[in-house]
Amino acid sequence: MNKTIALGLLFSLPLQVVAYHSQRCKNPIEHVQITAFDYDKDINQVMKIVEQTKKWTFRGWSEEKIQSFFKNKAPQIKVAKINNKIAGYIVQRISDFMEDLKEVYVRFIAVSKKYRKKGIGKKLLYNTIKTSTKKYRRIHLCVFKNNKNALAFYKKIGFKKIFESPSIIELHIEI
Ligand SMILES: CC(C)(COP(=O)(O)OP(=O)(O)OC[C@H]1O[C@@H](n2cnc3c(N)ncnc32)[C@H](O)[C@@H]1OP(=O)(O)O)[C@@H](O)C(=O)NCCC(=O)NCCS
Repeated sequence: MNKTIALGLLFSLPLQVVAYHSQRCKNPIEHVQITAFDYDKDINQVMKIVEQTKKWTFRGWSEEKIQSFFKNKAPQIKVAKINNKIAGYIVQRISDFMEDLKEVYVRFIAVSKKYRKKGIGKKLLYNTIKTSTKKYRRIHLCVFKNNKNALAFYKKIGFKKIFESPSIIELHIEI
């Protein structure tokens, strides 16, 4: 397992406890739960995050198409909840082809603007890593080259560049 992830997983709980206590006074962020996405209950809140982050995720998709994506892909989606409110989501994909490669593909990840840089994106990704380590070797994803925030985020987690086109960078991390 990648050293950054191993250390991250090892220390994430105590760090979250420290973060929880240090942030508690500054803002109301409390317990973060990663749970399965429930279309009927969660879609309205998720769509609000989609609206804020469409440029980097569902660029060019109609609202109808996005909603039907969330309906059809529900089993591949997890959400991060704070006090029962959705703060972020992650969509992963495992196809037959990816099974052969022993890779999990992260298709979309986004955190509500209000909750950025509070460790929620990391929690969502670590959850995917944690649930994939037994069966898979890598997490793989693509990011728009001009999405500097996401690139900085993935770099912090330990992702490495494997391919670059004029507009997209492909990254992966060994788990
Ligand atoms: C990318 C995104 C998911 C990150 O989520 P987040 O919850 O803000 O990230 P975290 O707080 O978990 O950050 C994890 C680490 O990355 C770092 N990081 C996150 N955003 C960063 C930024 N913009 N610049 C530099 N570092 C950043 C954090 O400082 C943190 O470092 P640490 O572990 O040393 O404390 C969020 O910015 C987002 O939703 N962006 C819009 C949608 C998007 O671009 N999705 C990706 C499409 S490929």
